[in-house]
Amino acid sequence: MADQIITISDKAAGKSFDYPLKTGTLGPGALDISSLYRDAGFFTYDPGFMATASCHSAITFIDGEKGVLLYRGYPIEQLATKSSFLEVAYLLLYANLPTEEELNHFEHLITSHTMLNENLKRFLSGFHYDAHPMAMLCGVVGSLSAFYHESIDVNDPRYREVSAHRLIAKMPTIAAAAYKHFVGEPIMYPRNDLRYGANFLHMMFATPCADYEPGLLAEKALNLLFILHADHEQNASTSTVRLAGSSGANPFACIAAGIASLWGPAHGGANEAVLDMLEEIGHVKNVAKFIDKAKDKDDPFRLMGFGHRVYKNYDPRAKIIREVCHQVLEEFPGASDSPLLELAVKLEEIALSDEYFVERKLYPNVDFYSGIIYRALGIPRNMFTVMFAVARTVGWVSHWMEMMSDPANRIGRPRQIYHGPGVRDYVPISKR
Ligand code: SDX
Repeated sequence: MADQIITISDKAAGKSFDYPLKTGTLGPGALDISSLYRDAGFFTYDPGFMATASCHSAITFIDGEKGVLLYRGYPIEQLATKSSFLEVAYLLLYANLPTEEELNHFEHLITSHTMLNENLKRFLSGFHYDAHPMAMLCGVVGSLSAFYHESIDVNDPRYREVSAHRLIAKMPTIAAAAYKHFVGEPIMYPRNDLRYGANFLHMMFATPCADYEPGLLAEKALNLLFILHADHEQNASTSTVRLAGSSGANPFACIAAGIASLWGPAHGGANEAVLDMLEEIGHVKNVAKFIDKAKDKDDPFRLMGFGHRVYKNYDPRAKIIREVCHQVLEEFPGASDSPLLELAVKLEEIALSDEYFVERKLYPNVDFYSGIIYRALGIPRNMFTVMFAVARTVGWVSHWMEMMSDPANRIGRPRQIYHGPGVRDYVPISKR
């Protein structure tokens, strides 16, 4: 079906320009204004890309108004309860759910790439003893191109695929190694007999002196959190990966850029910030004071884990995580977070009955409850965003692969509205 045509009129110039409205399978269409500057001599202006589609994609669909999240068309609620993280990784990478044989082969492939080059251990040991694990993750992932330079020819689809597999496989090993460096324990090697989530928990909590057998619930909770964090359309870190990749940069550098972007407290860093916030609030009796702070324009305080650029309804991932929170805290008697969970539930209840939040459609997002589960699993706060990055690597590499295999892919290069000085001549220092 022919695209609908939208006409833009420049009344001052007495001209009008017709542009096609591109539509996809689901969701709003997008006006293709790629020739606007050539036609009309001006740009569009959309800071924060509030209404800008940067690409075509077939990976993830979000309906922010309805709180819908689909991975390759499958509702997140179904994948969360029925799938495994590596099955979801296969789905995001290859567009369809695998057969049993395909999944077994993929799991074997990923398992065969989980080890790190031994020299990387020396790289890690060079970090300051209390370096933040996200800083270490960013540095080590970026350095992988120094170890796999034979496979960074981004124009070769086979090298692209093996780099994607290496990144998915090695992220948990690097993440756990960063944690071990931080706690001063020996780095643990991955085990080929363990599934992805269990292997990660093993590398985090086993030591050369004592094995760690993750319980089924811990593995199930981690598998769920990894699935929920795997992808989310064109969020800031995924857009960073795409922009870096558009220049032909190697995949390891692109994913390191994504990790850097995710670290921000407005994005993936929010899960760590939520726990800081809940501890700062401390008790239900203080909730009202902090709600007022969040509403005060002169106060930089925001309710971390609340609000979302796209979801103007409850984030479906937050809904699922909140339910699992209760199960996990019941099962992990040692988890000292029931007061924090009670506080989070109360904070949500009060915020969602407050006009300020209702009017702005600010609901809990994926980061609001996830930290409570991570804590219950024994994962320290400075590792929360690392957990997000391990899971989101699947989404990042899927989007990178989709972009790199698109013949229409070209370097991303936004323009600007210039507010600087007009042309002026250089003044010798003696005359300034
Ligand atoms: C993630 O993009 C993705 O998909 C991200 C993500 C993914 O999976 O990749 O979903 C993961 O990053 C989730 C978001 C985690 N961040 C936080 O929880 C940090 C707290 N949230 C806010 O910083 C904010 O809500 C953002 C950054 C998430 C969204 O910011 P927007 O879309 O730019 O919204 P905005 O800042 O324009 O806010 C609109 C209004 C403003 O008030 P007014 O100017 O209209 O009076 O809502 C207010 C904001 O002040 N507001 C908040 C608020 N979030 C927005 N007020 C108090 N507390 C908040 N959390």
